[in-house]
This record gives sequence, C-alpha cells and structure tokens, in this order.
Amino acid sequence: MPYYSQEIIDEVLSKTDIVSVVGERVHLKRQGGGYVGLCPFHNDRNPSFSVSPSKQICRCFSCLEGGDVISFVMKYENYTFPEAVKMLADRAGVSVPEVKYTPEMKREMGKREKLYEIMNEAEKYFFYQLKTEAGALGLKYFEERQLTPETIQHFGLGYALQYSNDMVKYLRKKGYDDELIREAGLGVFYEKEGMVDKFINRVMFPIQNSNGKVIGFGGRVLGDAKPKYLNSPENLIFEKRKNLFGLNNARRSKKRYMILCEGYMDVIAMHQAGFTEAVASLGTAFTPEQAMLLRRFTKDVLLAYDSDGPGVSAALKALAILNEMDDMHGRVINMRPYKDPDEFIKNLGVEEFQKRIDHAEDGFLFEVRQAHVPFETENAGARERTEFTRTLVDMLCRFEDEIERENYLTDVASIYNIDRDTLHKAVIAAASRGASERTKAALKVRSLGNEESAKRKDSIKGSVKHCEMTLLAWIAQRPELYEQIKEDISATDFTDEVYRKAAGIIFGQIANGKVVPALVIEQFEEDEEKRMVTEIFFSSPEELEQNHDVESGAERFKNLVIKVKQNGLGASSNMATDPAAELERLIAGKRLVEDLSRKKYSV
Ligand code: CTP
Ligand code: MN
Repeated sequence: MPYYSQEIIDEVLSKTDIVSVVGERVHLKRQGGGYVGLCPFHNDRNPSFSVSPSKQICRCFSCLEGGDVISFVMKYENYTFPEAVKMLADRAGVSVPEVKYTPEMKREMGKREKLYEIMNEAEKYFFYQLKTEAGALGLKYFEERQLTPETIQHFGLGYALQYSNDMVKYLRKKGYDDELIREAGLGVFYEKEGMVDKFINRVMFPIQNSNGKVIGFGGRVLGDAKPKYLNSPENLIFEKRKNLFGLNNARRSKKRYMILCEGYMDVIAMHQAGFTEAVASLGTAFTPEQAMLLRRFTKDVLLAYDSDGPGVSAALKALAILNEMDDMHGRVINMRPYKDPDEFIKNLGVEEFQKRIDHAEDGFLFEVRQAHVPFETENAGARERTEFTRTLVDMLCRFEDEIERENYLTDVASIYNIDRDTLHKAVIAAASRGASERTKAALKVRSLGNEESAKRKDSIKGSVKHCEMTLLAWIAQRPELYEQIKEDISATDFTDEVYRKAAGIIFGQIANGKVVPALVIEQFEEDEEKRMVTEIFFSSPEELEQNHDVESGAERFKNLVIKVKQNGLGASSNMATDPAAELERLIAGKRLVEDLSRKKYSV
C-alpha cells in the first residue's frame, strides 16, 4: 500500500463503523448479533449480505463478495484503495496527508490508477482542442446542436483533431508509454505508421463512471461518415455493460425515478433542459448489470428510447431486464411525433416533455400493446382475438404476486375488451402448468454474478485448503484454543499461500491479545485473497467440519490439526533434495504426527 501508512489505515478502521458505512448504501435489518440486507453485488432476492459489527466485516453468503469496510467501499464505489481510505478518513475526521505523485510513485502506480490518470489527461486534451483554431469545427458542431458553453464544460466535451498522432505525441510528452496509450484505447499501433491516434476528427464525449471518473470516450463523426459513433475499447477500468453515461450527475438528481435514454446526445440535451435524472447505456443494449447499478438509486426507470422500430424493440428488451430485477418498474415515455428526446425538447419544449414523463406508460401495458400490433389487421376476427388472448395469458403468468397479476388482468381485460372471467380462468390454468419452466428461466438471469462464486465454492470443498481454512476459522473465533496448539502447529504448516500468511498474522494478533479481522484483511491486496480471508472470519467451524463420524468437537479439532500438520510436512518434503536428510525429516515428521494423535485437546 504505497500511499498511506499502516498507522493511518489502522486509525481510519478504528474510527469507522462498517455498519453505518454499508447502511448508508444498503438497506440493513437487524438479525441476531448483526445486520443483513440485499447484496449490492449480485441480483439478490433474499437478504444474503451480512454485516458483522463485532468483527467489522461484511460478506454475501450467496456470491461470496465481501471484506472489511475498505474493500466494501472500493467495490461499491469503484474506488481505488487510496481513494477508499481517503473517503473513509474524511468521513471519520482523520486527517491524511495530501498525496503528490513523484515520478517514482507514478511508475509504481497500479494499472487501474494509471488508466484513470491517462483518461483524465485525454479528457483535458480533447476539451482544450475546442478552443484552438483547428478545433473550431468541433465547437461549431456543438453550437449547431444548441449546446451551451456551460453544458460543454459540464460534460467535458471535446474534439479530436484531424492530425494522425497529435494526441499520442502529447501523451508521450506527459510521460505515458505507448503500451499504456494503446491499452487506454487512445492510440492504435500500425506496422507502417507506428502509434497513431484512435480518434480522428470527431467530437468527443467523455464517459464517466458513477464517481465522475473518466473511463472511456464516445467519438461522433462530424458528418455522415460511418461509423457514426466510435467508442473506446474495453479495458481494466472501462466495462461497457457495467456503467451508464450521465449516472455521476443523475445520482444527485432529487427525482424518485431515472430516465434511460439511447444515446449520449439525448442525455446531454436532457440535462441541459433540466432533466438531470437522464442516463444512457454505452453504445450497447441495456444490461442486467446496469439495472443493478440503477437499483442503487431508484426502483422506477422511465425509458426514453427512440420512437422508431429499433427503439421499440430496444425498449422491450430493456423492460425484460427490469422485470427480472426485484421490485424495479419500467415505464415508457411516448416521444411521438419525434424521434428522440433531443428532437422532442427542441421542438415542443421542457414543459411538454415533463407532461410526457408524468404520463409515461406502464411497462407491462406497453409490452401488451406491442404484442397486440400484429393482430391489428383490418379483418381481424375470432382467430386473431384467440391468439392475442393466449399471448396475454402467457404474459400475465409472469406475475408471481397475485394482487399485481389480478390488477393487470383487470386493466388489460378492459382495454382490449376481453371477458375478465374467461381470462382469469385461463391464467389460473396456465399458471399451474407452466410455472416450473418460467422459474427456471428466471433463475438463470438471477444467478447472474454467481458463476464465479460457484466455481470458488467448488474448488475449495473437501480439499486440504478446506482443512486449513477450517482450522484457521476455528482458531480465529476461539483464540483461546491457540494456546493448546501453538507448540504443534505454526503458520509454515499451512501450504496455501493466503492461509499461511493469514495464519501468521492471526497467530501474531492472538499473541498480542486480540484478533482484529479488518486488520488481517488489510494485509492482502488482491480481491480474491481478501475474499478468502473474509471467509475465515465468517465461517462457522462446526459447519465447515464435515467429519461427522467423529462425535466430539475435541476429536474433530485434533483431526484437523493432524491433517494440516501432515500435509505441511508432505509439502515441504517435495522440496527437499538430499535423500538422507529427506528420510530423516520424514521419520521425524511421522513421530510428530504420532505424538499429536495421542494428545488431548479440550475444545
Ligand atoms: N451508437 C454507437 N455506434 C453507432 C451508432 C450509435 O455506439 N454506430 C450508440 C451511441 O451511444 C449513440 C446511441 O447508440 O449515442 C444512439 O444512436 P443514434 O440514435 O444513432 O444516435 P443519436 O444519439 O441520435 O446521435 P446523434 O443525435 O448524434 O445522431
Ligand atoms: Mn439523435
């Protein structure tokens, strides 16, 4: 951790309560000695995210994400480590030294931080070009689209010149190497020409993450050339499916809802008109991850998609995603007779658009209306009506909540002039038939974000790693046991690198009087390592230890000690090279294990 001393981190941790930090972001309920809430890191249906005030750590039992308060903030806010520490320090009133980057620190900076820095530099560069003679074209484009200087400044809009490597040269001069420029997607390498600018003669839209940090760019051609928009490629900090354009502003809007648009220009035009609650996906379709991101701020999403055919089918897909999210609602804003919000506001103005917002159509009724379109032929008769009614039955079956389903049933029966009773009976019959299949489909979407954790769970079960973890969990939670085994087992007996290091720290803490989980977790840098260590503190040794043949806890504890010891001996013997010494070691080891098995622990 290059920026803050261990003392500062310790002080921040001691003055911060994880329950209030998590509680400001996740709705928590008291349960037992701790708190639980819906996990913010996967599409959680029942509260699986638990926060322990006594241990000052948190963990999701379903997706296994978790850690101490610093790792929570990093993950939730998309912060780097020093940013998370700084934020928590400010919050706790701990003063931290301002960080000035020396050239040496710059070289050591993590990849993510470097990418953030170069993106920031690129944004300033593009913005600056608007003021130059060569960039007048870009400024003119924005003026023609009626953007004010304030809007241009607010969104940090810019222009990429017509020269082929002006930006690359500029970034090199600032000290960034070609590899980083390429990885940031700002330069492209060609055999013949070398590194050239990725964006040429385009107006530039910086894309910020929800904390306002620039993570990529969209560049629009000035004329009608193709492609109309060129977007930065993805990298460590830029994941299109996990970010939304405009969210860093929209999250501060006071509205109860958010408006989801199709394009950058729509969002910008809406913000300029005062609708600061507008966001857009990033040149790709709306994703479940983006729905989860929105759910942090609102349950009510209004779609302001184009009114043309592709716009409607994009809206239907977005609604399908929102439907899968627990308690999120989609509504659709009617943009006709205009194509998109930008055009609408220019022609009919702000008040008229606000009216359209107020009268946005319920997402389900919108879907039903679209499903009805194919049946709106001139000579539609019983056949068409039957087919439409069947479609309707299927759609109504999606509602698991009976009250909700009944209410929609009443509405559609009246809108489409269908006998309510007939429809009701058909829905009940179909619901019992098809429930299982729909549940399966829904589960597939809901398991989003769980695949990795499933892998993690699988690989550890039943292994030596599992024994090492269980023993550590046991000792961490009952530190008084350490006294009995400290002669038999040391940290070096643990073969897994993470557990070995954790054992060293935990045993050290016990010797000093107290186990502090957050301080153990803070010694690890990688996400996966932090997760593994968090698991130690959140596990119940009783549940982990599946050796049910042995009744007594003391026996089970002893078996664990022996297994870990035996394995530790075996592992180090692999490394030995002198056969005689090797044999001696093995014999000594065997004796040790025999001694152990005669020992009595009291648990
Ligand atoms: N888009 C893209 N690549 C394209 C076309 C579109 O990534 N070739 C994305 C952009 O994010 C764009 C959005 O899809 O903002 C909507 O596309 P479109 O409706 O064509 O663009 P507008 O937002 O209307 O752009 P403009 O008003 O500048 O023509
Ligand atoms: Mn447009």
